[in-house]
Amino acid sequence: MLSGIRSTGNLHLGNYYGALRKFVAAQDHFDCNFFIADLHSLTTNPDPDALHANVKSILAEYLAAGLDPEKSTIFIQSDVPEISEMYLLLNMHVGIGELMRTVSFKDKARKMLGIAPSDSESDEEIEKQIVGNDTGKRVNAGLLTYPTLMAVDILIQKATKVPVGKDQLQHLELTRRFARRFNSFYGVDFFPEPTDFSFGGAPVKVPGLDGSGKMGKSEGNCIYLIDEPKALRKKVMRAVTDEGPTAPNSPMSQPVENLFSLLELTSTPEVATQFRNAYNDCSIRYGDLKKQLAEDILAVTTPIRERVADIMADEEYLRKVVARGAEKARERAARTLADMRQIMGIRKF
Ligand code: TYM
Repeated sequence: MLSGIRSTGNLHLGNYYGALRKFVAAQDHFDCNFFIADLHSLTTNPDPDALHANVKSILAEYLAAGLDPEKSTIFIQSDVPEISEMYLLLNMHVGIGELMRTVSFKDKARKMLGIAPSDSESDEEIEKQIVGNDTGKRVNAGLLTYPTLMAVDILIQKATKVPVGKDQLQHLELTRRFARRFNSFYGVDFFPEPTDFSFGGAPVKVPGLDGSGKMGKSEGNCIYLIDEPKALRKKVMRAVTDEGPTAPNSPMSQPVENLFSLLELTSTPEVATQFRNAYNDCSIRYGDLKKQLAEDILAVTTPIRERVADIMADEEYLRKVVARGAEKARERAARTLADMRQIMGIRKF
C-alpha cells in the first residue's frame, strides 16, 4: 500500500477523511508506505522556506494522527532520487494529449491563467485557451506532467493498493494505463496495476464550508486539523446555509447537504438522523446543527492538535523517522529503477 499528500499547507478535514484516517487504519494490515509529496508541490513555485516548513508540519501531523514509523515506511518524496529518474523514463511513454485532458490539469492551469471555468467548452476549446493564452502568465510543464510523477510514486514501489480521496481517482486510472502501456510496449509483466483501496469505507469527497463541493487548501473553505477550538467553532458557525425548509421533506440545497455530509463523517449515526428528521419536519435550527458539528469535529481534531506541537519540537526524532523511511523506500525504488533501465535498453557494457 502506498499513498502521499502534497506539502502545500496544513492538513484539513478533506485530507483526513479522504486519506490520512485510512492510512492509520491500514497500518496493522498491510506493508504500508506513506510519503510527503514535496516534488508535487513545486508545481506552484512555493517560497523555499514555506515549502520546507510545510514538509515538517505535515510530517508532524502524520505522526500526531497516528502513523507509526514502527509499522509504516514514512518518507519524503525528494529523499528518493530514483523517483526523479524514473519520472524522466516514464514520460517517454506518456502522451501530452492525455495529460492535457486530465481534469486536475485543466482546473489548475485555468486557475494559474485566471481563466474562468465554463461547462459548455469542449476539451479542444480549453486546450486552446491554455496553449494560446495571452494573459502573460505561464503554466509550467511540471503541472502538465503531474500525473506521470504520481504514477512513478506508485509504480516505483510496485504498490497495488492506493488509498485516496475521490479527486485522485482519475490520476490512478492514468497510472494503470501507463503501467499497461509500458508492459505491453516492452512485452513484460513488470508493473502491477494499482487500484484505489479505501480501507474502512469508500472514497469520499469532503465538502467545503462555503457551500462548494470540495474542501481544498486553495479554496479557502477548510477546517484544519490544527485549528484552535475558538477559531474552528467560528468557522463552522459561519458556514453557508439557506433560509431553511418551508415544506416537509424538501430537497436540500448544496450548502445544507454539505453540512449534513460533514455531520455524517464526524458524528454518530443517531445524531445525524436526529438532524435529518428535524430538517424533514421543518423544525431544524441550523445554529444547533452547527454547534453540534463543531463539537464533533473538535472531538476528532483535538487529540491530533495537542500532539502536533510536541512532535514538531523534537527535530531529532523527525530526522530519524524520515532517514529510516528514505532508506527503506530507496531500497525498493532502486531495484525497480535498475530493472526498468535494463528493460528499456539502458545497459552496462
Ligand atoms: P493532495 O495533497 O491534494 O491530497 C491528499 C489526499 O487528500 C485527499 N483529499 C480529499 N479527500 C476527500 N475530500 C476532500 N475535500 C479532499 N481533499 C483532499 C486526496 O484525494 C488525497 O488522497 N496527487 C496527490 C498526492 C500524491 C499521491 C501520490 C497520492 C502524489 N503522489 C501517489 C497517492 C499516491 C494529491 O495532490 O493529493
